[in-house]
Amino acid sequence: MKRTHNCGQLRSSDISKKVILCGWVNTRRDHGGIIFIDLRDRYGITQIVFDSGKVLDDAKNLKHEYVISVEGTVRQRPEGTANSNLPTGEIEVVAEKFEILNTSKTPPFEIDSAIIPSEEVRLKYRYIDLRRPQMKKNILLRHNIIFAVRNFLSKNDFLDVETPQLTKSTPEGARDFLVPSRYEPGKFFALPQSPQLFKQLLMVSGFDRYFQIAKCFRDEDLRSDRQPEFTQIDMEMSFIDENDIISVTEKLISEIFRVAGVEVKIPFERMSYDTAMLKYGSDRPDTRFAVEISDLSEMLKNTGFKVFAQALKNGGVVRGICAPCGDKFSRQQIDNLTDFVKKFGARGLAWMNITEKGFESNIVKFFAQAELENIKKTFNSKPGDIVFFAADKEKTVCDVLGALRVHLAELLGIIPKDKFNFLWVVDFPLFAYNSEEKKWDAVHHPFTSPKEDISRLPTSDFRLPTLKSRAYDIVLNGVELGGGSIRIHKKAVQEKIFDILNITKEDADMKFGFLLSALEYGAPPHGGIALGLDRILAMLTKSESIRDVIAFPKTQSGSCLLTNAPSEVAEKQLKELKIKIDTTKK
Ligand code: AMO
Ligand code: AMP
Repeated sequence: MKRTHNCGQLRSSDISKKVILCGWVNTRRDHGGIIFIDLRDRYGITQIVFDSGKVLDDAKNLKHEYVISVEGTVRQRPEGTANSNLPTGEIEVVAEKFEILNTSKTPPFEIDSAIIPSEEVRLKYRYIDLRRPQMKKNILLRHNIIFAVRNFLSKNDFLDVETPQLTKSTPEGARDFLVPSRYEPGKFFALPQSPQLFKQLLMVSGFDRYFQIAKCFRDEDLRSDRQPEFTQIDMEMSFIDENDIISVTEKLISEIFRVAGVEVKIPFERMSYDTAMLKYGSDRPDTRFAVEISDLSEMLKNTGFKVFAQALKNGGVVRGICAPCGDKFSRQQIDNLTDFVKKFGARGLAWMNITEKGFESNIVKFFAQAELENIKKTFNSKPGDIVFFAADKEKTVCDVLGALRVHLAELLGIIPKDKFNFLWVVDFPLFAYNSEEKKWDAVHHPFTSPKEDISRLPTSDFRLPTLKSRAYDIVLNGVELGGGSIRIHKKAVQEKIFDILNITKEDADMKFGFLLSALEYGAPPHGGIALGLDRILAMLTKSESIRDVIAFPKTQSGSCLLTNAPSEVAEKQLKELKIKIDTTKK
């Protein structure tokens, strides 16, 4: 029996039609002389009625998740029984015959239940989990968005070009996944961390505007917004500047959100990296709530409070935040907050309550009245507020207060949940000093153009920490959605960067020789961006983890519970690859 309609299609206008539907038995309600089945497919649910004769007898055998086809006639549901929650809720199909296309074991969890099974079970039986309405919605949205992205970019002259998965290491800062070569034992491909170098080569080839819905692979510590393989909306353009990329990205994002039913206002705000770090302690600030960091170093430079004085003397800073806590936090709560900030490197957490009577805390006595008044003025604080302080190296203070402001906002419930606050963070530093390895690292990647021509800059110039790059990140509600930059298109500048990053000429030639060579054959000025598709979808669907918007994701520890990958391989395969496993080490 071939289906004539799907399970989400029939309406009152179809009454009296003879139809055939196929789908899964979502629920079965046996009322003695009458059985109701909610038949489900990708498109929706239709109520089927078995009310007489052989079909009624046979329907008694139907169980959850059986796959059936049913032939019957559409009729109006009796008065008072219409279901306004279902698009098909006005009608039902009276079964005349049906066929069981396949049976099903009792599923490990109920598809329609409000109780969400454990993630372990969901991932093991992902094909059943994907039948759950929320998951189906997420996958459909993913499709609709990818479709809209292709459409939008194609209309704007971007060409979809695939780039290799078996390739050479691409420096995005994570560990590579390696694939051994059988033809050249001992040599390995790397799976791309991004199509970065290939998209730059496509600009050299003159393709002008490129995009790809690109799979990227990074072997890094996983979090709720990180997967070892994930998807980027990857773009690159020639003969443009930052504003062109920002503008086309804003239009693309507003198109993506429109598809999901959310109107966003463009252009988005822009904030310099320095401001973001100073006011929010983070290069991906959540600007949905007003708790901002203020620097108190200058006003407390002569303070009698030793902890602060010492930090300042050591070249550090004193900064604080003020939050409306209404009723005072208990000592226990403050202890908990102190434990929280210690995870971010804090040595302690100084605090003061602002009350009708003045300041209250164990440290107030160490401050001059003028200092206290200045603190109050800085935060414009009112009775019921609490001020928290961090005194340390600037980086630690940023980490501590950046994390604390978000944590406090969550505790106090002051984050508006339906707000989408987009923000461009611009003017990133070009280099960051890696004190562990005692060398300079690129803050974005090493192909990012500096703001100024540095080809003649001495490699050990004192200005290195102050140099800015032409990189930009797009941030939404404290999540980095994407990042990109204007690239270096002159070989001399690229070589200078490698030099500063302590990448030797031999190393640069071995790793990126093909790029350096391409820069000598008419490389146009170019730049681009990559947006994390999974993260965008997780924000739109309000999912806690990007795993919920990926059909077949990996667990937090990087394995696939469905297929049991990674797994051992046959001895023969290892032999062909000339690989020996050291079984003495786990
Ligand atoms: P970047 O490394 O910033 O830039 O990555 C761009 C965006 O990809 C997403 N992303 C991830 N999503 C899920 N899981 C991960 N492990 C993961 N890692 C990154 C983030 C991030 O903002 N080639 C450059 C782009 C460019 O310069 O054009 C790049 O890959 O949303
Ligand atoms: P102490 O003198 O060590 O007892 O610290 C006095 C108060 O300052 C306590 O509330 C500590 O938690 C806090 N504190 C200690 N070190 C720091 C720091 N580096 N930054 C902010 N507060 C601190």
